[in-house]
Amino acid sequence: MSTVRTQVAIVGAGPAGLLLSHLLAARGIESVVVDQRTREEIEKTIRAGILEHPTVELLDQTGASPRVKTVGNRHDGIELRFEGEGHRIDFPALTGRSVWLFPQHEVLIDLIEVRLAAGQDLRFGVTVDRVDDIETDRPRVFATNPDGSPLEIEADFIVGGDGSRSLVRAAVTGSSTGGHFREYPFAWFGILCEAPPSSEELIYSNSPHGFALISQRSATVQRMYFQCDPETDPNAMSEAEIWDTLQSCVPGTTLQEGPIFQRDVLRFRSFVSYELRRGRAALVGDAAHTVPPTGAKGMNLAVADVVLLDRALGALLNEGDERLLDRYAETALKRIWKAQHFSWWMTNMLHLTPEASEFDRRRQIGELRSVVESEAGRTYLAEAYTGWAFA
Ligand code: PHB
Repeated sequence: MSTVRTQVAIVGAGPAGLLLSHLLAARGIESVVVDQRTREEIEKTIRAGILEHPTVELLDQTGASPRVKTVGNRHDGIELRFEGEGHRIDFPALTGRSVWLFPQHEVLIDLIEVRLAAGQDLRFGVTVDRVDDIETDRPRVFATNPDGSPLEIEADFIVGGDGSRSLVRAAVTGSSTGGHFREYPFAWFGILCEAPPSSEELIYSNSPHGFALISQRSATVQRMYFQCDPETDPNAMSEAEIWDTLQSCVPGTTLQEGPIFQRDVLRFRSFVSYELRRGRAALVGDAAHTVPPTGAKGMNLAVADVVLLDRALGALLNEGDERLLDRYAETALKRIWKAQHFSWWMTNMLHLTPEASEFDRRRQIGELRSVVESEAGRTYLAEAYTGWAFA
């Protein structure tokens, strides 16, 4: 059995865990980050791509992602498309802010490189078995090293940044799923294809055939999604069927087609853990909450949690002041529930539920029209999408 002693044990080397280790290090607080996955798996997993304005400023200014502004693409708007017409939401004109398209795995490539260069204790292939003693000031993580030998991490504080199937959550909430939960009767069929962009900005399209999102990755690779049944087998559709479905969901636009080299089905869930902190353990990111992808909030919400927890741990460990930590959950939950609402609202406004009646469909068009034809409506959407300022 090997035992390591550190100030903060961080479970999960996703954006939340790695960014937290980076911000803590700048305060002189040391941490150990462990993740069950290999570095390669972490750097290759395809996730969403939109970073809010406050997220980008933080990643850039703290040196967490040196490439976010140079390799990432600034987007000054999105298009909402319905009844065959596109309506642009102009972010800078409405809010003075923008978003950046820079896929999550690119942020992770940067963060891992930056942390390793700074000498961060970052361990891949380590499986956490349980966390213990979180009600004391010597909480511990019990884990298994890649070679099967046991590892114990003794810390002042434990952070669960270990994703939607979080193991740390069980210790914090007393049960592994304890939280507010909602499922949706649809999913996204996502593809990556080799083709030129069909549009310079993202298109969120509502159509009688269901929702589609036209996103981009580069001049030669595109990311697109269309609404599907959650039970869809991603390999059961031919490329021709996929393109027919996609084209039918963005009436009035002609998509540039090309070979599809990756496909996946993303299930939709909304989740907020009942507890975000107990004693000397706290949750950040997907371990604390999940949002459906329509509002592009997932990673951004994780970053907002980390900003709060970094300050709270700074006060606790550098000054012995617990007050910020005592307010962590309450403060984080205000933004989490705003983001839950925004993600739920965008999802419901744009997707067609299987049982939707003609009334429901026409009401939805009325809602979309209310948003795009009103400066207040467009401004609400733009403020939420580009990201509220950190607390
Ligand atoms: C993506 O590019 O993968 C993407 C963009 C916006 C979303 C979701 C996913 O809302």
